[in-house]
Amino acid sequence: MDQKVKRIGVLTSGGDAPGMNAAIRAVVRSAVGQGIGCIGIRRGWNGLISSDFINMDTSSVSHIINKGGTLLYTARSEEFRTIPGQDKALATCRLLGLDAIVAIGGDGTFRGALDLSRRAKETGYQLQVAGIPATIDNDIGCSHYTIGFDTACNTAIECIDRLRDTMQSHERCSVVEVMGRHAGYLALSVGISVGATAVLIPEKELDFERDIVEKIRRARLAGTTHYMVVVAEGAGETMEISRRIHENIGLDPRVTVLGHIQRGGAPSRQDRETASCMGYAAVQALVEQRGNCVVTTQAGHLEVMEMEDALKMTKEFDMGRYRILEALTNNCGAL
Ligand code: F6P
Repeated sequence: MDQKVKRIGVLTSGGDAPGMNAAIRAVVRSAVGQGIGCIGIRRGWNGLISSDFINMDTSSVSHIINKGGTLLYTARSEEFRTIPGQDKALATCRLLGLDAIVAIGGDGTFRGALDLSRRAKETGYQLQVAGIPATIDNDIGCSHYTIGFDTACNTAIECIDRLRDTMQSHERCSVVEVMGRHAGYLALSVGISVGATAVLIPEKELDFERDIVEKIRRARLAGTTHYMVVVAEGAGETMEISRRIHENIGLDPRVTVLGHIQRGGAPSRQDRETASCMGYAAVQALVEQRGNCVVTTQAGHLEVMEMEDALKMTKEFDMGRYRILEALTNNCGAL
């Protein structure tokens, strides 16, 4: 017999992303607004294991929609990967009377949520879970968009625009490493948006002559005397790439690793709005007993997907946009 949702837990897990707070706010206010209790679980799945939680109401999430980071902290939990760890987490869920959990994070977070729900079912305990995709990498297979991506792009773009000022003045080559773990979404979007001379992504095997030397040469032949090379952290060793540029074409590149600055800052409009809508949709899905699910976007529209199906989905990297980048970069000077 399906039960009415009475109390929802909400947590953030994995790398934090700007917009997570907006998602937490939306979950809490959507739940409380329907008379559903809401418990904030701190430090990801570890919070369930160690009973680290906070009772949430509408005022708990005031003035956070514009704040980067996560009010509930985040962590990656090795213990939660074990059955004893999941059983400890379940004990906390039972103690708190949780009948649903909203997990905000990446696909690893969703796998943990699904494992927990299945473990609960084995013991006759109905615990629905709903996932909200949040990572600056935008590399979650089931969703076209993940919370944090737009803000991280904007941060990297602003930094690279600043770098370009000084590279132009000194007629230098800048090699900038951006995040993205094993994916090139951040690098490609940023590369297109800053008009990079060259962009290296893990999805495209590096041909140093073609992908860097020729592009810098074309730019030089077209009269440019400074060069912006964007490297996705998963595409190669940035210092090694800089050294090879020096060896091959005699430039003396300056390397900048943007690092965790891309994870902070006030969330953009897109991240605030997407996170708010996803948080609301997650609670509605749980109220309608549609768990276990993931709230995804498909071509700009929200779509609640079965979590099991969502976790099997992969994302096709759009090499068409890479070709656009090359067209806009390469068409400046014959070799
Ligand atoms: O997954 C988000 C991300 O920022 C990646 O882009 C990056 O490689 C990783 O997290 C860094 O992880 P940590 O914050 O644990 O150093």
